[in-house]
Amino acid sequence: MAKAKILVLAGDGIGPEVMTASIAVMEKAAKGSGLKFNFEQDLAGGCSFDQNGTPLTDDVLKKAKKADAVLLGAVGGPKWDTLPHEQRPERALLGLRAGLKLFANLRPAKIIPALISASSLKPEIVGGIDLLVVRELTGGIYFGKPRGRKEIKGGFKAFNTEVYSTPEIERIARAGFEAARVRRKKLTSVDKANILESSILWREVVNQIAKEYPDIQVDHMYVDNCAMQLVRNPKQFDVIVTNNIFGDILSDAAAMLTGSIGMLPSSSLGEKKNRLGFPQGMYEPVHGSAPDIAGKGIANPLATILSCALMLRYSLGRDDIAQKMEKAVEVVLQKGYRCGDIMVSGEEGKIKVGTQEMADAVMKEL
Ligand code: IPM
Ligand code: MN
Repeated sequence: MAKAKILVLAGDGIGPEVMTASIAVMEKAAKGSGLKFNFEQDLAGGCSFDQNGTPLTDDVLKKAKKADAVLLGAVGGPKWDTLPHEQRPERALLGLRAGLKLFANLRPAKIIPALISASSLKPEIVGGIDLLVVRELTGGIYFGKPRGRKEIKGGFKAFNTEVYSTPEIERIARAGFEAARVRRKKLTSVDKANILESSILWREVVNQIAKEYPDIQVDHMYVDNCAMQLVRNPKQFDVIVTNNIFGDILSDAAAMLTGSIGMLPSSSLGEKKNRLGFPQGMYEPVHGSAPDIAGKGIANPLATILSCALMLRYSLGRDDIAQKMEKAVEVVLQKGYRCGDIMVSGEEGKIKVGTQEMADAVMKEL
C-alpha cells in the first residue's frame, strides 16, 4: 500500500490552525482509497527563528528533500518584522524554494459561482474566470546578484539584480506551455520587454519554445498592461507565464478577482521526481499568516484544503481524491457556509463559520 511521506510546516499566524483542519479533511478524503500518509511536522518561519535562531534549519531542509511533498501553512508576523533580512520568516520560504529547486509556481484563480458576489468587481466581469498564473520561482530579482547596500555620500544605495538565463526561461516556458496544453491552449507571456534586457531575452526564448507547441496560441503582454487587463477583462486569460516578481504581484491581483485570497491554493514544482514517481512539490495557500486573526479559530481553511488537493493531484498522483475534495468544498459553499473573509455584508441566508466548523462541513460532504 502506498504511503506518502509529507513534511508539514505549519509555520506562523493562522498557519497551524488552517493546517490542522485541512489535514483532517484530507485524511477523511483519502480513507479507503489505498493511500496512507506518513506526516512529519517541523518548524519554518518565525517559530523556527524563536526556537533555533534561524527561519529554516539545515535539518528541516534535509527532511523536505526526502519528503514526497511539503505542506506549508504560512510564515511571518509583526513580531519578526524588525529582524535582519537573513533571519526574517520569509527567508524560510525562499530557502525551501531554492533548496528544493521549485522553479515553477502554479497559482490557479478560478471563480466559484457561489462566491461571485464576494468579488470586488462586477459579476459580469468575473463570472467564469478560470486562469492560472505560472510564476518562475527560483530566479529573477528575488535571487539575483549583486544585491545589497552600500554607504555613499548622503546616505546609502541599495540594489538588486533582475537576471534570467536561457535555460531558466526555457524550463518555465515549457511549464507554461504544458499547463496550457491541458487547459484552453492559450498562453500569455508577461514581461517588460520595452524596458528590460532580461525581458527581451525572456520574450525571445518563449518564442523559441513556442515552436515545440504549435497547438498553443501564444501572445506577449507588458506587465503594466496585464495588470490593467486583469481587472478590465480577466476572462481573456487562460495561462499566464511570467517571472518571479511580476508573478508575485499579478497572482495577488488574480487571486482577489475571485473574491478572496483566502480561497486560493498554490503548488510549487521542480524537476525532481519523488519516490512515488511524481514531481516533488511544495503546497501552500496563497494567503499569508494573517497575524491579526491568528489563534481566534476564524481563519478560512479552504485555501489550505485546496492546496492539499493540489498535492494529491500533482505529487501523489491521486486526481480522484483531489476532485473529491474540490467538489466537497464547492458543495459547502453552495450550501452557504462562509468564513469571515468571504462573507458579503447584506447577503441573506449565509452561515458564518469558523475554521473548524468549515472543515467539519467539508468533511460531512466527503
Ligand atoms: C508569496 C509571498 C512571498 C513571495 C514572500 C512571503 C516571500 O508573497 O509567496 O507570494 O514574495 O514570494
Ligand atoms: Mn506574494
